[in-house]
Amino acid sequence: MNIPQIAVLISGRGSNLLSLIQHAQHYQICAVISNNKNAAGLELARNAGIDTTTFERKAKGDCSHRQEIYKAINQINPEFIALAGFMEIVDADFVMQWEGRLINIHPSLLPDFRGLHTHQRALQRFHESNGQQNQHGCSVHYVDVSVDTGPIIAQAACTIQAEDNEEQLAQRVLEQEHRLFPWVMNQIASNNISYHRTSISFSEQAKSEAQQYNFITPLAK
Ligand code: GRF
Repeated sequence: MNIPQIAVLISGRGSNLLSLIQHAQHYQICAVISNNKNAAGLELARNAGIDTTTFERKAKGDCSHRQEIYKAINQINPEFIALAGFMEIVDADFVMQWEGRLINIHPSLLPDFRGLHTHQRALQRFHESNGQQNQHGCSVHYVDVSVDTGPIIAQAACTIQAEDNEEQLAQRVLEQEHRLFPWVMNQIASNNISYHRTSISFSEQAKSEAQQYNFITPLAK
């Protein structure tokens, strides 16, 4: 059987991309596409021998580069697309075309803190609650037509410490991201996690691994 091919979209640093590369077991990353020619992740991909393409983000309001990205992806025709720090909203037509095959990582325990500045907002809530609301983390979810609202596949949590600043917290969450994203993509690629629009099914093996790794799986059936 052919190994499922994944195209990864990035905009910057690429640490999640690197983790996806390093932990690829049941999938192969066939292409990395960026909307930023200076994205450090491009170099990481090239070092791993992966094809890279950039369609530079244009001035606000001009989304022609996104159309180029969609065209390139359609040509590559991967099984799945991973958004690994792709800092742009993907258009609804594309999302619908790739329903159930387009997967994003977000640095919060959704539905908390959709959008940007998640660590800053988590710290603010922590302090406002006098340290009661001390859970933060990351989520991997299928993308739907709104922002950060799609069905949650799995989450990894960490505890906010009183002395944390934004950077320290971001780093702790990032460590969780690097564990979670490749695990989810390997499970999806090996059919241990599958999308059914209104539910997500997990094999017994995926359920037990999620438990073992302390991942939260709110929609697992
Ligand atoms: C990560 O925190 C990810 O959750 C968010 O953007 C960041 C990308 O970081 N969507 P990197 O480029 O993977 O290092």
